Amino acid sequence: MPERTLVTGALGCVGAWTIKALLDDGEDPVGYDLGDDDSRLRLILDEAERGRVTLVPGDVTDGEALGQALDEHEITRVIHLAALQVPFCRADPVRGARVNVVGTVVVFEAVKARLDRIPGLAYASSTAVYNASDPSPAPESGGTAPSTLYGAYKLANEGTARVSLQDDGVASIGIRPYIVYGPGRDQGMTSGPTLAMAAAARGEGFEIGYGGTAQYDFAPDVGRAFALAARAANDGAHVANFPGEPSTMHEVVAAIEQAAPDVAGKLMWADTALPFPESLESGLLERLVGPLPSTSLSDGVRSTVEHFRARG
Ligand SMILES: NC(=O)c1ccc[n+]([C@@H]2O[C@H](COP(=O)([O-])OP(=O)(O)OC[C@H]3O[C@@H](n4cnc5c(N)ncnc54)[C@H](O)[C@@H]3O)[C@@H](O)[C@H]2O)c1
Repeated sequence: MPERTLVTGALGCVGAWTIKALLDDGEDPVGYDLGDDDSRLRLILDEAERGRVTLVPGDVTDGEALGQALDEHEITRVIHLAALQVPFCRADPVRGARVNVVGTVVVFEAVKARLDRIPGLAYASSTAVYNASDPSPAPESGGTAPSTLYGAYKLANEGTARVSLQDDGVASIGIRPYIVYGPGRDQGMTSGPTLAMAAAARGEGFEIGYGGTAQYDFAPDVGRAFALAARAANDGAHVANFPGEPSTMHEVVAAIEQAAPDVAGKLMWADTALPFPESLESGLLERLVGPLPSTSLSDGVRSTVEHFRARG
């Protein structure tokens, strides 16, 4: 039977790039997301590609609706990305927990009820499971004391995955991206660099709300990793950091200025560093899923600025 993958949160940035990776593999994927604003999909896909995507509007906390989508479309793989990001969890912790914690339990339960057809799933955890006092590079086995509610909810997802394997045999691969950047990254605490790339493409300045050193993950590479992980999630309950190189904000801004020289001197950033370690150990993800693309910061930034210039 050919694979058919359902992606929760498909209308988000990582969701749209994951859909793109699945399309590139020849699949006709199904997106499951609240509402019907497909602007990020349209930013990333051409019309023919968009036509191959089936969108099912639905809430990830609604097990009945999710189960119906899994069965109606004979889904064989699941990629769970739907979540509320740091500022939204901070603004409404109860809603954040409902979507990020309960929603993830609902997805695991839905897969558990269909293990004969869906052996496991890939899901998004986050670097936010770490805090600024964790060692840098942070070991993959670490991440036990998050400094945000969002991070605490992601840690709960990793626990849900571990116990779902132990009690029910649901296999999973959780990926912890750091700062995802690229077309479609327009919301969340670390969206500043991409918003600066969009401004630079318009010839405008921008102030990024944080600084310091962090890892930058090009969104198409992250989408590819999720597509590979969904197919590799056949046993175990693995959690892996997304591999990347640490960069200072100075280097990020220099890469933007190189791609858009007319904004030189017009990009600013705040001094505050993010509450995470500067770099992460990695290696497990490639052992699980095979080689991953690793676009350099300068190539990823140039491609993002060109994308914004061409497609708005
Ligand atoms: N963007 C990053 O830098 C980053 C870093 C680490 C981890 N992550 C994780 O990766 C995943 C994707 O992130 P993103 O940047 O694409 O986020 P995003 O905010 O762009 O997209 C999230 C999507 O989830 C959907 N959603 C929210 N609540 C839902 C619900 N109840 N039911 C169904 N859909 C719902 C939203 O409509 C949205 O389309 C998330 O789990 C996020 O926590 C992102």
